[in-house]
Amino acid sequence: MKALITGASGGIGLSFATVLHDMGVELVLVSRNKEKLEDLKKSFGKKTKIIDMDLSSTYNCMELYELCKNDKIDILINNAGFGDCGYFTETDLNKELNMIDLNIKAVQTLTKLFLNDFLKHNRGYILNVASMASFAPGPLMATYYATKSYVLNLTESIREELKQLNSKVYIGCLCPGPVDTNFNNVANVKFGIRGLNSDKVAEYAINQMFKEKQIIIPGKLMKMNYSLSKVCSPKLMSKFIFNIQNKKIGN
Ligand SMILES: NC(=O)c1ccc[n+]([C@@H]2O[C@H](COP(=O)([O-])OP(=O)(O)OC[C@H]3O[C@@H](n4cnc5c(N)ncnc54)[C@H](OP(=O)(O)O)[C@@H]3O)[C@@H](O)[C@H]2O)c1
Repeated sequence: MKALITGASGGIGLSFATVLHDMGVELVLVSRNKEKLEDLKKSFGKKTKIIDMDLSSTYNCMELYELCKNDKIDILINNAGFGDCGYFTETDLNKELNMIDLNIKAVQTLTKLFLNDFLKHNRGYILNVASMASFAPGPLMATYYATKSYVLNLTESIREELKQLNSKVYIGCLCPGPVDTNFNNVANVKFGIRGLNSDKVAEYAINQMFKEKQIIIPGKLMKMNYSLSKVCSPKLMSKFIFNIQNKKIGN
């Protein structure tokens, strides 16, 4: 099997790469950091393909597909993404538009292009990395939560369409809570609780993906939070999340 992983130079993406490599899956690794990717190629072996590319450009996403469409990709993991924190009136518009380009438009583009190929062969796996942020409004991380909500809704809709088409292609969403990666530094936040280990998250996610699970939530606490989000009103969730995020930004 062969897997294409976006955002594979660190964090959860690198953990995905490690877990799949250990399972004997060949890798195509994408991120902006050429040096890190070259180091990874050295450790994962010659068969590993590395592509340094900024996926916040739709043109680059299409280019990525062109570079890989003959590689017989079996697994696409749309993992690259980032967040930002602060009052919506104060956060940087350019950073947010870039976030929408990466967290939404890159997922949209790559999912569509690869899914059409997967459909032709009636096989393949697409795992989109969303977040616990997908399940509720997210005051003080408004744009990030909205992007992850988009990813979840898009994925679930496609999944139903595939079911109606009797397709064997898998699509699902990984929705983690805090994971110990570089996410915090990029998003300018501090988690109120200890993040999960990214290797454990990736191992669990891959395992659940092969079991064709629709929504993958690592950890008991986050599974409880998910249940809570199903019974609480969006108004209540907004208040609850505002208080959590407010602590994260140090207020
Ligand atoms: N950590 C958490 O608590 C958490 C919780 C829920 C969901 N998530 C989601 O998990 C995914 C992975 O995040 P992480 O926690 O592993 O964060 P991370 O450690 O910051 O890793 C992000 C990865 O994305 C790559 N990336 C960032 N911008 C990119 C761009 N424009 N083009 C191509 N690659 C890009 C980064 O590599 P380069 O910098 O080399 O490009 C890096 O490999 C994200 O979608 C995030 O929203 C994270």
